[in-house]
Amino acid sequence: MASIVQFSDVTVPKNGKARQDHRALAQRLRPQRESLPIFTARSAIVQQVRQHPTVIVVGETGSGKTTQIPQYLLESGFGTIAITQPRRVAATSIAKRVAEEVGTPLGGRVGYTIRFEDCSSDKTQLRFCTDGLLLREILSDPLLRRYEVVVLDEAHERTLRTDILLGMLKDIQRERKRVSELHHPSVDGACRDHRSHGTHVTFDEPEEAVPVVDSVHGDVTGVGELKIIVMSATLDAERFSEYFDSAPILYVAGRQFPVTTYYTTTPQADYLDSAHLTALQIHTETPSTSGDILVFLSGQEDIENVERLLRDSAASLPAGVPALLPCPIFAALPQSQQSLVFDKAPEFTRKIILATNIAETSLTIPGIRHVIDSGVCKVRGFDPRVGESLLVEPISKSSARQRTGRAGREAAGFCYRLYTEADFAQLAEDSVPEIKRCQLSMVVLQLKAAGVADVMGFDFMDRPSKKALKHALLELYALDALDDRGELTALGRWMSEFPLEPSYSKVIYASQQSGCTREAIDIVSLLSVDSLFYVPADKRDESNAAQSVFRSSEGDHLTYLNLMRAFNKVKGDREWCQEHFVNRRNMKHVMDVRLQLNRLCARLGLDTERSCGTDLDGVLRCFLSGFFHNCALLQPDGSYRSLSGSQTVFVHPGSSLFGKKVPAVFYDQLVFTNKLHARAVSAVDPLWIAQASPKLYGRLNTPTA
Ligand code: CDP
Ligand code: MG
Repeated sequence: MASIVQFSDVTVPKNGKARQDHRALAQRLRPQRESLPIFTARSAIVQQVRQHPTVIVVGETGSGKTTQIPQYLLESGFGTIAITQPRRVAATSIAKRVAEEVGTPLGGRVGYTIRFEDCSSDKTQLRFCTDGLLLREILSDPLLRRYEVVVLDEAHERTLRTDILLGMLKDIQRERKRVSELHHPSVDGACRDHRSHGTHVTFDEPEEAVPVVDSVHGDVTGVGELKIIVMSATLDAERFSEYFDSAPILYVAGRQFPVTTYYTTTPQADYLDSAHLTALQIHTETPSTSGDILVFLSGQEDIENVERLLRDSAASLPAGVPALLPCPIFAALPQSQQSLVFDKAPEFTRKIILATNIAETSLTIPGIRHVIDSGVCKVRGFDPRVGESLLVEPISKSSARQRTGRAGREAAGFCYRLYTEADFAQLAEDSVPEIKRCQLSMVVLQLKAAGVADVMGFDFMDRPSKKALKHALLELYALDALDDRGELTALGRWMSEFPLEPSYSKVIYASQQSGCTREAIDIVSLLSVDSLFYVPADKRDESNAAQSVFRSSEGDHLTYLNLMRAFNKVKGDREWCQEHFVNRRNMKHVMDVRLQLNRLCARLGLDTERSCGTDLDGVLRCFLSGFFHNCALLQPDGSYRSLSGSQTVFVHPGSSLFGKKVPAVFYDQLVFTNKLHARAVSAVDPLWIAQASPKLYGRLNTPTA
């Protein structure tokens, strides 16, 4: 099987001057490292990890878990360590920081690997990665042999992938223990002893090594035990401990200053407006030396809206009021702009950081004294009748407390909750783990590809509903990724190579036959961001008119393709983007994803340049072969009804099909606001739908089970 997705190569500068600079910076950061609360727990942590296969570490945000623990282990002689993060932004920015602290260039001893981007090398000993990436790595390295330690960070977030990883790691740990005992019966003692000398373990092969091969894990000779560290920012760590056979829990004291919390007196009609006004109020009424402002919003769209409002206000501040610098941070933001958040603002300037819940516990941003909490976050929701949708929902009390805590990291601070105290009292205590509320097809495909035959019997920490699991299995069956016995097909294995939802990899597969791989990759990349255009509230008509040049009567998929073609023609010119209200930031991300997908497809032997030119029906049919479950038919009353769940869905106002009536559509995604909105919608011939999935709609091959 092909190895892990590895894309860009990293060049590590060899010149002596650069090396000195790195060392000097690390020296300067040393006192800061040693003043972190976790520093005093250093030897206790290392000792516990030596003694136990799994250790749970609980510590307040900012205590130093993520940046320090991997370094402690490295310094104590442990081998290669993977540290997983639920989010890309956290993985990259923390790797950068840790490389500075270690004193090596990023991509050397310390590196990161995230979907579509690899900044690591053979020398990398601390690898920060997303949880999704480590899951993919299991496909090519079923026992994760290259790692001696895996650190599962931010486990309290309970993302879908973290939960699946928990189960897979537990299994891998058991298997590695079994194998290493089989080969080295005395390994229990030896394995612990060698550590106290701080050297790396080397296992001698026994005289007559019996090759151990099993179908799931492959050849497993010569692999030591796996250490697992689960890190969490919230106190309820007992569940993790129970799951890992009563693993010890280490509590690291935090350092928290008091935070004064304010609530609004009445519910706010528009939290974006309130966030903007509150930020301005803080900025004009308190001296800028009293610290920066951190605003929690639900997602990129919110952030960009508030950013625009703030930029307008920043241009017309009263005389004598210091400057104001909005700093957004979200996943699709280019690297160069992400780091702005961590840089010190210029003199007489206050930073207003606009973040998603990434700043809740994953990232610690220095200088914050004021927090504005919108009270909402974007979550994935799943209902077998409508499939998966994105919802903006109230946060949990536990999230609200984490957000508040961010104001008191360095001194006493203030938190402005944009909701009433009565509303706070109504919030759920904790958020529901993602695995209980989202679509499972991608992880089920990955579990199958990793050799887990009985997905229903998998050791989940929190079991997803049978209904959701069945739905995922059926969907994979309809996509031809599983056969009628529920086993992975050759196509399914091929699809599992892609770090994409199975629907998209199916589209790319189908594009080979229709000769439109180039268009399929382009459009899949275009769908990887929230929005390609921006629509300022006061320039709605103007931006609509400017965008109309791209509009295809067949809908958004081809409209996006037109946009990409035009964007390439002008080489992404900044002014051109402004004139056409094109979100240049997101387009850059799209181009990046496209490059990486092209490389992956080329590696798998696809002709990525095969284009259908102007004959675009084939492109839509390819998309249908992956999205037949996202179809809706026009009703006599002019509404659309989803085929799979008979739900009324509305075309999103931003769509090129908004207000149009066509017999049938398919869509990329549903977003639930006040009603179900279909995003990225295209018109199709209803006949094509049945042809795209005979299994689902043709009843030719209905499963017998
Ligand atoms: O993981 P945890 O929340 O416990 O803390 P951390 O992410 O390891 O951060 C420890 C400290 O490192 C923070 O308090 C920051 O002061 C500092 N840090 C920083 O200055 N810049 C970064 N990019 C990351 C961390
Ligand atoms: Mg952390």
